Amino acid sequence: MKGPQLLDRLIPHAIRLADQRIADLVTDPRRLAVSSLRVGPLYANFARQRLDADAVAALLELAQERGVQNAIADLFDGVPVNRSENRPALHTALRGCFSEREGARAAHQLAQATRERMGKLISELAASNVTDIVNVGIGGSDLGPRLALEALRDHDTGRFRIHFLSNADGNAAAYVLRQLDPQRTAAVIVSKSFGTQETALNGRALLQFLGSGERLYAVSAKPELAQQQFGIDPVRVLPMWDWVGGRYSLWSSVGFVIAAAVGMGNFERLLQGAALMDEHVRHAPLRGNLAIRHGLAAVWNRNAFSYDSHAVLAYDDRLARLPAYLQQLMMESLGKSVRQDGTPVEVGTGPVIWGGAGTDVQHSFCQSLHQGTDAVPLDLVGVVRAPNAVSEQRAPLFSNLLAQAEAFANGASNSDPHKVYPGNRPSTLLLLDELTPEAFGALLALYEHSVFVQATIWGINPFDQWGVELGKRIAVSLQPAVEGANPPESVVDPVTRMLLEEIRARS
Ligand code: F6P
Repeated sequence: MKGPQLLDRLIPHAIRLADQRIADLVTDPRRLAVSSLRVGPLYANFARQRLDADAVAALLELAQERGVQNAIADLFDGVPVNRSENRPALHTALRGCFSEREGARAAHQLAQATRERMGKLISELAASNVTDIVNVGIGGSDLGPRLALEALRDHDTGRFRIHFLSNADGNAAAYVLRQLDPQRTAAVIVSKSFGTQETALNGRALLQFLGSGERLYAVSAKPELAQQQFGIDPVRVLPMWDWVGGRYSLWSSVGFVIAAAVGMGNFERLLQGAALMDEHVRHAPLRGNLAIRHGLAAVWNRNAFSYDSHAVLAYDDRLARLPAYLQQLMMESLGKSVRQDGTPVEVGTGPVIWGGAGTDVQHSFCQSLHQGTDAVPLDLVGVVRAPNAVSEQRAPLFSNLLAQAEAFANGASNSDPHKVYPGNRPSTLLLLDELTPEAFGALLALYEHSVFVQATIWGINPFDQWGVELGKRIAVSLQPAVEGANPPESVVDPVTRMLLEEIRARS
């Protein structure tokens, strides 16, 4: 579907709703009755979106026309939905066996067998004198495990201390290494491509620190490179595959440190929670499909009202890294300007994703969200039960979550213009019953599928990321001049040349 057709469908509803207040929309009891959905431990409420029944119907028709459900079936079946790289995207096969198709079943079996190997390696490590494990990886090889470790910290067995090295920043490496004893440290080098500069640099720093590759492990879709570059015994190299995108990979052996921290049983529970969401997304009809509803709300906000940024506020400290994780998941997946067939997308695609943990953010950027000139739609995420929390802080935290959602939607009038809150900021509320591995898995899987729905509506490929390559190439070409091997004159761009001269003069 071309952009104008998409807009033709949505804009009349946006015009009709332009002056409608969320506060007025929610007075309709029929609307409230159909505004929430539950999948296992995850409840979602869409009542505060700037939508009415006719607009929802138009969005559902759009999803139907765009073949969203067929696309979902293709995703699970292992059809090469990543067309620019001619690959399937079978992250769902890492958590369950959902398809009769041979490729998808084979992928699931490979994933299971690899998980068994991972469990064995972790058991051996647990029986050794190793106390610390360093996860060396960046982007999808870092953000998922980092988030999961914090989210599931109440399930941490305490057997290992886990550290992360991602950035190509020698300060970070020095800081992490000085806390460690090389005799009691293991490291897992996680890189799908095994060609990522930052990971190679940090991997070499670790190898030097450990003195040998004996306690080095690797996870890669190019296992042979782990052996060639670091001499890692193939027994300690776990495969991943082309059909798992980096930002969709925490369910694979990329989750090595998650399983090491919380145990294989809890890692399996994480996968089961994601599988529960998969099963729902695969079978639920359009209207009752949580990922479709979530994805359509995002398309609506982006294309009907042209909101170009979206904030995620997690009212639970353990989910403070959720926005950073979603930044990669959503912006690498949806930050595209051409459709799968290479033609330009004529409507706005993925917005800027940002956010933080409530209530911290209320004391930093929420001022702008309440009174800034640009409205920002939000996802507000909360956790109902937190058995390990200091109990007297639960009510204040929850009151703040509910209060913010209400304030964003309803605003407030005042005779003093400085004290006016325009309101009408749309939000979706996502509530986990408890931050269990299952609920956390379901939450992340929801976001993955919502991304897929949005990408399908826009006709873009959520599984490639060509946009990151140009900067990497330029960095490699500049390195000799930065190192001083070549004179700055070798650099063509005049501004970069000037900056190089400045850096040289000061180093
Ligand atoms: O540069 C972007 C990217 O390719 C991400 O998509 C990916 O998650 C990250 O780099 C790390 O890649 P790898 O796992 O291949 O080292």
